[in-house]
Amino acid sequence: MKDIVPAPPPLVRNAFESVRELFSRYVVPTYSRFDIALQRGSGSHVWDVNGRRYLDLGGGIAVCSLGHAHPEITQALVEQSQKLVHVSNLYYHEPQGRLAQQLVGHLAPGKVFFSNSGAEANEGLFKLARRFGHDEGRFEILTATHSFHGRTLAGIAATGQDKVKKGFGPMMPGFRHVPFNDLAAAREALSPATVAIMIEGIQGEGGISPATPEYLLGLRRLCDERRMLLLMDSVQCGHFRTGRFQSFQRILEGTDAPDFVPDGVSMAKSLGGGFPMGAFWVRDIHADLLGPGAHGTTFGGSPLGCAVALKILEVIERDRLADNARVTGEFLKVSLQRLIDAYPQVLRSVRGLGFMLGLELAPKEAIPALAASEKTASIQFVNLLQEAGVLAIPSGLQVVRLLPPLNLTRAQAEEGIGVIERVVKSLA
Ligand SMILES: Cc1ncc(COP(=O)(O)O)c(C=O)c1O
Repeated sequence: MKDIVPAPPPLVRNAFESVRELFSRYVVPTYSRFDIALQRGSGSHVWDVNGRRYLDLGGGIAVCSLGHAHPEITQALVEQSQKLVHVSNLYYHEPQGRLAQQLVGHLAPGKVFFSNSGAEANEGLFKLARRFGHDEGRFEILTATHSFHGRTLAGIAATGQDKVKKGFGPMMPGFRHVPFNDLAAAREALSPATVAIMIEGIQGEGGISPATPEYLLGLRRLCDERRMLLLMDSVQCGHFRTGRFQSFQRILEGTDAPDFVPDGVSMAKSLGGGFPMGAFWVRDIHADLLGPGAHGTTFGGSPLGCAVALKILEVIERDRLADNARVTGEFLKVSLQRLIDAYPQVLRSVRGLGFMLGLELAPKEAIPALAASEKTASIQFVNLLQEAGVLAIPSGLQVVRLLPPLNLTRAQAEEGIGVIERVVKSLA
């Protein structure tokens, strides 16, 4: 299996500079990338082109659900690619049907549409909402401030952050933003044209903010009262990252609302573990709103992607990785809280559930070693973690996200906390 794709020869001796040179000449510069060129990975570790090893607590921004180079994903890719890679959505094939069945089984009665990405999954839900309200002239969707829903034109219109909209106006009409976790604000913002509310169960790009149980239950009631769709963007917070399939299931544990069911749920990221795929689930009562010809995609739900996603679900269940995310995630959270208590001049708080955690730093001006730089505190902190051998994801000015693979071990979590502690200590 190992030799199917032989490693390419190294480009030149100074491997990092030569890779960066290729990017600066030929890749559209939409990202401020870190000065690291990665070459290979295994489990929760990755190696750069100079052979340096990092513990990957960013997980490709919540994508690498089984870590890197998982042998069973490789095997699923190879076996399925020897049978059928792509057929288009003009035909039936078993992997797509079986994957849809499993996702429905994890959620509630309904149906699934497969896409290529999170943004495209959300686009499908926006179209579902528009179709739902069309005959009554309702089209408006409320989303939350600090939300993130993707980079397409509808995605940036839906996203509650100005920075993604700047320079791309006029925005697509039909989206308005309301403060997150504020039920009264949502109720007040409704207009006769409002047809749906979309939120993330835990805001990811906005800095790891979980919805409260009261907010989720209140939005469900409000949507029922006003015949609106409640849409959950689970692209980042879904797929067992919080210890349950969906973050709202985890958030609502212990409340007397076991049958909270949204009308639509978008998924991507961990679903394919690095194979690019997305999906949206729609509740049974609305499942036939998008009929033949109403929506489509060339690549979504390919046999290859679905075989990988099925294998990921199988491994998550067999290896009890949801429990691991819950238990090892709690260990990370408690350990981070201990660091916050010990170094209050550097760290402020830790938020999130399971393997979706946000470590809030003190403002840059309050940390002398970070104050002089033009870079945000979060980027400088992530740079220091990288120098010490850990990858994490900055979020906004002063939050660092941990979104590790679901199979991160306790020993690896301890390794990560050890590195974070060293970095925090050096700033105190
Ligand atoms: C909550 C949420 N929705 C949507 C998206 C967009 O997904 P994609 O980048 O796959 O289009 C993201 C990506 O970060 C996300 O976090």
